[in-house]
Amino acid sequence: MSQEPVLFPKDFKWCVATSAHQIEGYNTQSDWWDWEQIPGKIKNGDKSGAACDHWNRLAEDIDLLKNLNIKQYRFSIEWAKIEPNQDVWDSEAIAHYKKELQILSQAQIEPIITLHHFTLPSWFKKQGGWEWSEAPVEFLKYVQFVYKALGAPGQIWITFNEPMVHLVGGYIAGATPPGEKREISGIIRPLKGLLQSHALAYHELHRLADLVKRQIKVGFAHHLRIFDPNHSWNLLDTWAANTLDQAFNWSFIEAIETGVLKLNIPFMFSVEEKIEKLQATQDFMGVNYYTRDKVKFRFDNKQWFELVTEKNAPKTDMGWKIYPKGFYRILKKIWEKFPSKSILITENGLADAQDNQREKFIKDHLTALHQAIQEGVRVENYCYWSFLDNFEWIDGFAPRFGLFEVDYTTQTRTLRQSGKVFSQIARDNGWRR
Ligand code: FCB
Repeated sequence: MSQEPVLFPKDFKWCVATSAHQIEGYNTQSDWWDWEQIPGKIKNGDKSGAACDHWNRLAEDIDLLKNLNIKQYRFSIEWAKIEPNQDVWDSEAIAHYKKELQILSQAQIEPIITLHHFTLPSWFKKQGGWEWSEAPVEFLKYVQFVYKALGAPGQIWITFNEPMVHLVGGYIAGATPPGEKREISGIIRPLKGLLQSHALAYHELHRLADLVKRQIKVGFAHHLRIFDPNHSWNLLDTWAANTLDQAFNWSFIEAIETGVLKLNIPFMFSVEEKIEKLQATQDFMGVNYYTRDKVKFRFDNKQWFELVTEKNAPKTDMGWKIYPKGFYRILKKIWEKFPSKSILITENGLADAQDNQREKFIKDHLTALHQAIQEGVRVENYCYWSFLDNFEWIDGFAPRFGLFEVDYTTQTRTLRQSGKVFSQIARDNGWRR
């Protein structure tokens, strides 16, 4: 076996990621909390409840973060806690996040702050969520309030986590709030609302940071996945895979780069619309990479594709195919499309309760990432998802993504073997093969 080390650039940053609703507990004023109360929506009837009780365990949990030798921590601020009713700002919630930022700063861990990670305040959802004409202005008010009240913290801001996953889940699949099952074209209205909200937030964050002479970077965490044809010789499968790739992976990103939303599903619908102030509103490309799908064409005008399960392929506990090469392919593609953009890896990880695949998963994905860097792709960091086991949305508590295992009855955290390996990699900025 070769002893050649896999070493990352000197200024490369190691990171882990979480989101508020998944770990903090009692997010009672949110649309997700409401959703969880409806029987049948979440696997095994799980409800987020106290989650990892992170709200009450800030200092202890940040101590655990220190053990991981990370330089950055990506987490989200919960809008539903900050603004539980329209224009009502909760001072206790703000004080809490202030404290979190303070403890992180003492620990010399840089925050990557996500402003929206899937959840909405219930009042905002009731008004129509992203389809509400006031949505962009209301989101802007929240962003302004947070930035000022927290005292202009942090350099890296993420407005939205996985906007396409959020909207496809909520408006097409109907599996997540607001639970609408529409044809693909039904995504356009909320998509526009969300893009407008981002555009306003992007400019406002920069304006506020400029006022206090701070340099910040604002962007998204995009969920990017590989779509390959079920049979590469089949032209229809290839067409279906490419169409899905363009619609799901790139249409949103290109809208932000060009300011024009173009979504084209041949024979079904097509939209091309300029969005005010949207052009060039991401300072980095945030990448969440997990898996690949194989796509088969279907002769059906409503659903022209089918996602095919790959037999005999290694999979995570959630059945997601493990495909590290896809990470390399995605990174290279971003680089080819947007050569000047620097990339943040905002999420990558797997559900593995037995912890017998995680170390290999991490090393294989890091090797793919390393290769991309060697070939010139500019990647600044790597955030493993997740720091702790947590509430995995519609899949409830069963999936175990954490470097730390959580016993939900006692709230005990135990560092997994793979977590130890990750912390060594972070300490050594790589490893020997
Ligand atoms: C991503 C989400 C994150 C978590 C992981 C497993 O799509 O951003 O909250 O659920 O998947």
